[in-house]
Amino acid sequence: MNKAPFIWMDGTFVPWDEAKVHILTHTLHYGNGVFEGTRAYQTKKGLAIFKLREHTQRLLNSAKITMIEPKFDLETLEQAQIELLRKNNFTQNVYLRPLIYLGYGAMGLYHVDAPVNTAIAAWEWGAYLGDEGLEKGIKVKISSFVRNPVKSMMGKAKSVANYLNSQMAKFEAVDCGYEEALLLDDEGFIAEGSGECFFIVRDGVLISPPNDNSLESITQGAVIQLAQDMGIKVERRRVTRDEVYIADEAFFTGTAAEVTPINNVDGRIIGSGSRGEMTKALQEAYFDMVYGRNPKYEHLLTYI
Ligand SMILES: Cc1ncc(COP(=O)(O)O)c(C=O)c1O
Repeated sequence: MNKAPFIWMDGTFVPWDEAKVHILTHTLHYGNGVFEGTRAYQTKKGLAIFKLREHTQRLLNSAKITMIEPKFDLETLEQAQIELLRKNNFTQNVYLRPLIYLGYGAMGLYHVDAPVNTAIAAWEWGAYLGDEGLEKGIKVKISSFVRNPVKSMMGKAKSVANYLNSQMAKFEAVDCGYEEALLLDDEGFIAEGSGECFFIVRDGVLISPPNDNSLESITQGAVIQLAQDMGIKVERRRVTRDEVYIADEAFFTGTAAEVTPINNVDGRIIGSGSRGEMTKALQEAYFDMVYGRNPKYEHLLTYI
């Protein structure tokens, strides 16, 4: 991975190779921690973080859901991310990874006795599902793993523990020769990808499942806003796997995945088998948005 000079840990800039934790760090053992994934893009006016406020607020919401008492407030966390980017002098697009975790000092499942630590890492990172994926689309497998059901887990929290489910689904998909997994909910409706939200296009209508069993995705919200502003009809409703197979277009959205077309699901070619027209239009509009090329959405950027 691309190292950077510094990682922010509890208010201090620590050299990358020294940003370490004790082996008895509570989160390592019991999986209670919350994180964010945020991107900063090299715009014409320099590096800018996309939707910094929303991501930082979601981090604090995730902590609230999982009963972790944050040690830093919204403004401090935002400022820390800005300063980290300034200090690291990045020349490419950047991925930011804030993490609130339970540290060293208490073991056992009663987690509230464990100290709360906060770290923010940032590094240069390109397309999560590959540059070719962004252009040609990717091959997706409906997972044999069901998305963490709301009866036992809390998908609105970007919680470390939720990602065991994602990792197993991702591994299975890649092991079977696919590039990404699409998970159903416990009732058999489409929930989300291992790290993305999901859209289909049918007869000119853009459809995305509700967030009943998925993260409230910031990119999904941005794409829906773009679509509405472009006059595209948007529906939030349940989608079944057979409906996916006969969709005209399909794509994933996520901070890491951006807008990634899907060309094949379970061996069924989707639409024309390449990036669909609406997908392309929304992808272009999304990149214009995050790169500050559309003044209408420039307020969503925080310039460094
Ligand atoms: C499980 C899951 N769903 C959806 C998303 C997309 O969310 P966002 O657009 O806020 O990055 C992500 C990525 O953060 C994710 O990990």
